[in-house]
Amino acid sequence: MSQLEILTAHCPVDFDFDVVSCSPTLPSSLPRSHNEKYFANTLVHGLFSPTHHSHSQDNAHALKNPERHYDDEVSIPGLPPLHRGHADVHLRNGVMNALHLGAAGEVDAERAFFVADLSSVYKQHQRWKKLLPEIEPFYAVKCNPDPYVLRLLAALGAGFDCASNGEIKQVTELGINPERIIFANPCKATSFIRSSAKAGVDMMTFDNTDELYKIARTHPGAKLIVRILTDDSKSLCRLGLKFGAPLVTVPALLAKARELKLDVIGVSFHVGSGCYDPNAFSDAIMRARATFDMGREAGYEFNLLDVGGGFEDGTFERTAAVLTEAINNYFPQRDHIRVIAEPGRYYVSKAFSLAANIIARRAPPAVENGQQDLDVDPEQPSVMYYINDGVYGAFNCIMFDHQSPQPYVLSLNGSFHVPASVPLRASSVWGPTCDSLDCVCPVTQLPALQVGDWLGFENMGAYTTCAASQFNGFEISKVVYTTGAGAGAAEVREALRAFQG
Ligand SMILES: Cc1ncc(COP(=O)(O)O)c(C=O)c1O
Repeated sequence: MSQLEILTAHCPVDFDFDVVSCSPTLPSSLPRSHNEKYFANTLVHGLFSPTHHSHSQDNAHALKNPERHYDDEVSIPGLPPLHRGHADVHLRNGVMNALHLGAAGEVDAERAFFVADLSSVYKQHQRWKKLLPEIEPFYAVKCNPDPYVLRLLAALGAGFDCASNGEIKQVTELGINPERIIFANPCKATSFIRSSAKAGVDMMTFDNTDELYKIARTHPGAKLIVRILTDDSKSLCRLGLKFGAPLVTVPALLAKARELKLDVIGVSFHVGSGCYDPNAFSDAIMRARATFDMGREAGYEFNLLDVGGGFEDGTFERTAAVLTEAINNYFPQRDHIRVIAEPGRYYVSKAFSLAANIIARRAPPAVENGQQDLDVDPEQPSVMYYINDGVYGAFNCIMFDHQSPQPYVLSLNGSFHVPASVPLRASSVWGPTCDSLDCVCPVTQLPALQVGDWLGFENMGAYTTCAASQFNGFEISKVVYTTGAGAGAAEVREALRAFQG
């Protein structure tokens, strides 16, 4: 008997779950573990109700509360609907929806999906403005070019760091003034430089002489920023291996720029993505100061300091303090200096969660029969779970971004309630493709799960979908959007509505 059949038999009860009235009671950050007991068993009550509107909790709510009218609805043509309520509600709603669709015989009914909570992006922006009021964020589009995220950040007044023609197009199509864009790729195709000139994007980085020749030919009016090499050894993704002019090379670069009559306006650096040592920023600011002085020697009066990306959610307070102190120390007189940054991960990582379905399992016979397997090494994974997103999809962050995503149990045996007493065993989690490299989690402690159960993954907003492929014919997981519950939710809607005009 399949898991779906088990669920059907257990869940003939009416669905009655109100996102709006429920959400404020949910804590903004829920602890995650397999034995978390927060949620009541709502899944089984959610299935197969004739009144269940599986696609939209908002719709369900509106049907039950016809008198309630929201005057801040946001609907953007061409984009998926924007829901209300806590992200966890939408994760559960998506699971129930999948079961509903599966029962109706829909192909790929159990597909994995993201839930994006835009209020999280909003709150990160507020936090940025509070802790780094002097530094203008230029969101690094490469990190997650999600259309709602871009719109929201545009509405909030952020600038954008673009790495390609395509990213510039995506941002300018939102109506963003090209002055709010920096083309922050030091090694660009000549045709991209030419098209950025046409688009009016003048600010761009360089770190080598050839780039200067290309820019002189195709965009002589560009406002150039020399990208310097800094210590990136305290980061997950070391960008200095590829980019950044060592300080010893800078005087010659600036002399060449001058010879070519190019305007160099400032300095940028990147301490590496996923920087876990805030002190990297103070060292980089010291080098930026030295570069400003070299600029003066070369006859330039720099007025832009770009402190790059590398900001982490968990260390943001400390990083902001270190950075502020370093800027105060090395740039005490800075009335004429504009300071910008290129944060990516900081803004989006925790805004996106992923729900993935267990589509297959390989387990020792005892486990398959629901018995305790006494002979196993508790450290060695004895059960292999296969889920429907993997390393070729959202979990490419394992390969490209050095992440180690950890699952939690989203639904178990038709329930969102996972008893604390449930025994755990070492397990491994795999993606859906035919490649053995497609391993999401080589070893993790999970209860005995079955095909049809769901795993959740948090912090899936940075460097995930943007680099996902459709290898083996698996679709990239879609996103369900919510403005969240509580703080920031109304502000997100207001910002998006105002931006729409
Ligand atoms: C030039 C540049 N700026 C900004 C970023 C964003 O970095 P992060 O997501 O670590 O903030 C990157 C990431 O690769 C980058 O290459």
